[in-house]
Amino acid sequence: MIVGIIGSGAMGAGIAQVIATAGHKVHLLDKNSQALERAAQQIKKALGKLSSKGKISEIAVMDITDRLHFTESYQDFGDCDLVIEAVVEDLQVKQNLFREVEMIVPQDCILASNTSSLSIASIAAACQKPERCIGIHFFNPAPLMPLVEVIPAVQTDAGLAEEIKQLVLQWGKVPVMAKDTPGFIVNRVARPFYGEALRILEEGIADIATIDWAMTELGGFKMGPFTLMDFIGHDVNYRVTESVFTSFFYDPRYKPSFTQKRLFEAGYYGRKSERGFYDYREGASQPQP
Ligand code: NAI
Repeated sequence: MIVGIIGSGAMGAGIAQVIATAGHKVHLLDKNSQALERAAQQIKKALGKLSSKGKISEIAVMDITDRLHFTESYQDFGDCDLVIEAVVEDLQVKQNLFREVEMIVPQDCILASNTSSLSIASIAAACQKPERCIGIHFFNPAPLMPLVEVIPAVQTDAGLAEEIKQLVLQWGKVPVMAKDTPGFIVNRVARPFYGEALRILEEGIADIATIDWAMTELGGFKMGPFTLMDFIGHDVNYRVTESVFTSFFYDPRYKPSFTQKRLFEAGYYGRKSERGFYDYREGASQPQP
């Protein structure tokens, strides 16, 4: 199987690593050459780490690397059996991209979106063959997180979800079927984790370091909500919150926060831009609980 992945950011690079490790050839595409370079470095580092820990052999690293092809051209997608897009969380961008890709890929190529929250039906509606579209939603970091949500749209061919479920198992992941509703399962359940933490902060009940400390040290979570939002990226996390809020007909339970909106507008995306709720620049002092 040959898989095309569009977007070589946090998710695209991780998904490419997972799929190439499972033995499939991957074309990883980005419009930004620096993003492609970063992805190549990230994957090289991750595979090197696995090899130095003895989890995979040096030959396996070479084979995986050989299966990965980095490109800026959609023309390379002419032999794809499956394309997964992992670009910015914006419906129009994803729709335009699938319109473009559909002109290049084979007639029976499956088109999948890694969207966290957008309607798969709306993405599919932009395609000439909407029945070949489906959601395949990985979690961050994709090489480490076992869960993958599989989301058929109303237009999706009967049987395609099962086919994808088997593929996800082949990739060593655990599939879960989800209905095409805003945020699917995990991102919907997670909304109050972020939303209530932001409200607690805005109401002056506790500061970010205290909330994170309470949730990790006392609550048993791996990451506190502010550390996690910084890790995901506010460009992604804010857009997902906004999309879930509007898609649920402005249900106040999902109302976005101005505190996070301002970070998003300032370009303080979290770890990826070195500033978010925390300051990741060298030598910066960190808030204490
Ligand atoms: P990112 O910002 O790290 O990477 C996006 C990449 O897409 C960038 O390298 C950008 O240059 C590229 N790109 C944007 N428009 C493009 C286009 N038209 N053609 C080609 N490349 C293009 O974003 P991230 O975090 O990887 O998220 C991507 C998608 O995955 C979003 O839909 C997001 O909701 C979803 N997602 C994100 C998770 C996270 O924790 N960050 C978790 C699960 C899903």
